Amino acid sequence: MSALTELYAEIANCQDCGLAKHRIKVVPGEGAEDAELFFIGEAPGWHEDQQGRPFVGPAGAFLDQLLSSIGLSRNQIYIANVVKCRPPGNRDPLPDEIQACRKWLDRQIELIQPSVIITLGRYSLMRYFPHESISKVHGKPRKKGDLVYYPMYHPAAALHQGRLRQVIQADMIKIPEILAQAGKITETPAEARQLDLL
Ligand code: URA
Repeated sequence: MSALTELYAEIANCQDCGLAKHRIKVVPGEGAEDAELFFIGEAPGWHEDQQGRPFVGPAGAFLDQLLSSIGLSRNQIYIANVVKCRPPGNRDPLPDEIQACRKWLDRQIELIQPSVIITLGRYSLMRYFPHESISKVHGKPRKKGDLVYYPMYHPAAALHQGRLRQVIQADMIKIPEILAQAGKITETPAEARQLDLL
């Protein structure tokens, strides 16, 4: 059994916040164990809670289209959420729920060792860059510690606000080049900004 599969078993038993008692299925995340691209969404919705898999509803269908626009499929990337259980009624996850779940995502990232973390939406952006606004930083890669982070709007946002569809598509098609250049991105904001031109 891989370390990641063992971790899924631990996550399945988690009772560390109130969301555990509402869930049908825990949604740990899935994808390639050696993925270079690690996508982080917000929280499971109704479909994900039913199936125990991330991004299997309408936002997931759009994400699949976005991935295919850069020649990728789900089994070539890894995808997980900031919280692993569905908040009741799809409400936003609360700070104590995000905090309780933090360790699981940290361990997934440690095991997978991706090159680029793609944050989808506000909640995953906030986890790494709490003071940034998505409207300003989306589509701009930056380095922090050993990793490159690439903030994008959440695919569900495009389902609600049509004008964001093209923004998300345009941000997505920059990913292959960002991955290719990941080793060259430095922590200095000025240098990271050079990649804005990509
Ligand atoms: N939205 C998310 O953020 N995550 C999912 O898994 C599904 C929808």
